[in-house]
Amino acid sequence: MSALEDFRANRVKQTFRKRLAKLPRVGLAHLPTPLDRCLRSADKLKIGALFVKREDCTGLAFGGNKVRQHEYVLGKALAVGSTCVIQGAASQSNHSRQIAAAGAKLGLKVFLTPKRDHYFDQMQGNLLIDHLLGCEISPISPEESSTEAKQKLAENEIARGGKPYISGMGATESLILGAVACVEIIFELSDQLGNDQKPTWILSASQASTQAGLLLGSQILGWDTKVVGINPLNSKHEAYVPKDEIEKVMTSAAKLIGFNKPIDPSLIANDINYVGEKYGVPSPKSMDAMKFLASNEGIILDPIYSGKAFAGLMDYAATGRIGKTDTVVFVHTGGLPGLFANKDYLVDYLSQS
Ligand SMILES: Cc1ncc(COP(=O)(O)O)c(C=O)c1O
Repeated sequence: MSALEDFRANRVKQTFRKRLAKLPRVGLAHLPTPLDRCLRSADKLKIGALFVKREDCTGLAFGGNKVRQHEYVLGKALAVGSTCVIQGAASQSNHSRQIAAAGAKLGLKVFLTPKRDHYFDQMQGNLLIDHLLGCEISPISPEESSTEAKQKLAENEIARGGKPYISGMGATESLILGAVACVEIIFELSDQLGNDQKPTWILSASQASTQAGLLLGSQILGWDTKVVGINPLNSKHEAYVPKDEIEKVMTSAAKLIGFNKPIDPSLIANDINYVGEKYGVPSPKSMDAMKFLASNEGIILDPIYSGKAFAGLMDYAATGRIGKTDTVVFVHTGGLPGLFANKDYLVDYLSQS
């Protein structure tokens, strides 16, 4: 890379970092997150190079990708004078745990509407931590819509004179701010790899925001990297975000930080082939992936998100889509408390392997 190209790359990062700094934001995450080179795994998977970007190490209450995203989401909530935040999803939601932790740190009331799903009664993993974090928990039936439950709760709060801010599924602004936050992951990667190196592939678990932000960041830096979100759920689930919606999230995030180049929708790759039986249930492939990365690198994945995403990466390598000339970054989005909620699956798996 020439000195001029190096200078240009630094200037682009500087320009966009200044724009990001103008948005409302609160400090929650330990940044930059580490980048681990995985020599043994790359060798075994027969790929050129493998790095793991450790978004599981963002620091707050077991970390994860949402801590970085909540810097902007809660920054906005506070900037518009919100008196509380509302989030609801599966009872093992990492998003819920991370927003409850952020609320605790900021002294902002958090309401959660977890589903009474098959994990609810065992009080493990994320749900156990939610209780420790001191948020208000109003469970709903598994059949109820999380989006509607959050809306109802918000109306009650408004009637009491509060000003609620809704996060998560169905809350478009929080998805857009989540994507904005992930642009910085790419800038950190560029700093960590050096301006003269760019990944050929970036894979992560993603429903929408993470992959939208990763692709946007790559576009800003002029990378032709293939950015793939491996989805933990498919169109049968309420939280599924179709491709055209991911495009809208990305376009809105780009607008917010003044990136005016049109987004090419054909670059949005969201893969639903590694969901397994269904969302929230570990798949045999996710447990294989967990065993692989733990035993080769000492890096722990979760069975519902990052494990399924890494299973996708392993399959891309096994089928030759990713090969010897590729530099691959796996963005580890966290989700680690889910390991303990799914202990029985893992015990069975380990006893058979
Ligand atoms: C561990 C983990 N990875 C990935 C995701 C998906 O992130 P996004 O919605 O930003 O694409 C989630 C969502 O909650 C998650 O908990």
